[in-house]
Amino acid sequence: MAIIAVSGRKGGVGKSTVAGNLAGEFAAKGRSVLVLDADPQHSMAAWAAEGQGLLSRVVEKVAPTGDLRARARAAAKETDVVLIDTPPGDPEIAYQAALAADLVLLPCGPSPLDLFALKEALSLALKARAERRSKKPRVRFVPSRVVMSTNLGRTLASSLEQMGKKVLPPICLRVVVAEAVAQGLTVAEYAPGSPAHEEFRALAKAVEKILER
Ligand SMILES: Nc1ncnc2c1ncn2[C@@H]1O[C@H](COP(=O)(O)OP(=O)(O)OP(=O)(O)O)[C@@H](O)[C@H]1O
Ligand SMILES: [Mg+2]
Repeated sequence: MAIIAVSGRKGGVGKSTVAGNLAGEFAAKGRSVLVLDADPQHSMAAWAAEGQGLLSRVVEKVAPTGDLRARARAAAKETDVVLIDTPPGDPEIAYQAALAADLVLLPCGPSPLDLFALKEALSLALKARAERRSKKPRVRFVPSRVVMSTNLGRTLASSLEQMGKKVLPPICLRVVVAEAVAQGLTVAEYAPGSPAHEEFRALAKAVEKILER
């Protein structure tokens, strides 16, 4: 029973991609999963609607006016892993998600602009932790859309480390990740055993380790 929020102020860094594919990895391990689509754009629901895979069964839209924190907590009572996909432009929704979450994941792309935007997301998650007077949510960075043949890609993890939070295994920019979305599938369903799938597996394993503590 865990609640994972995937957040960040910057648009297009891979929040929904990470949330959907982590759902795929946890389901593959036999866990029950629910993805709360708390982004008014509802890109997660749109991804799910493209196919008949896992996501078509486990994505639930949450209205912007809905009580996200209460919904996540209630869902976690009957689901092993609840993932919350949050929008880039709404700090209140991200804050509600952080108040409910055991773990906040902050995906970050290699652009310096992505790194700048991360500071705000990090302080929001830490504010929620202070409010809860708890060690939760734990907060981790996820290098996302990484191109290892570039300098910015190779140095992203160390740039993130300098911001003071632990960094999880990276997700590289790969065509199959976007192709899976077009088919309404997770990478685990669309390209099992591919390098992209191995990356999401490694990420899920690292996440699981944090949640076990
Ligand atoms: N690792 C990756 N490899 C290839 N394409 C990716 C990868 N991660 C994300 N993308 C693509 O980049 C775009 C943005 O990703 P995504 O929608 O997950 O970002 P987001 O942070 O959720 O965006 P938003 O802030 O709009 O909610 C999408 O078209 C997605 O398919
Ligand atoms: Mg998104």
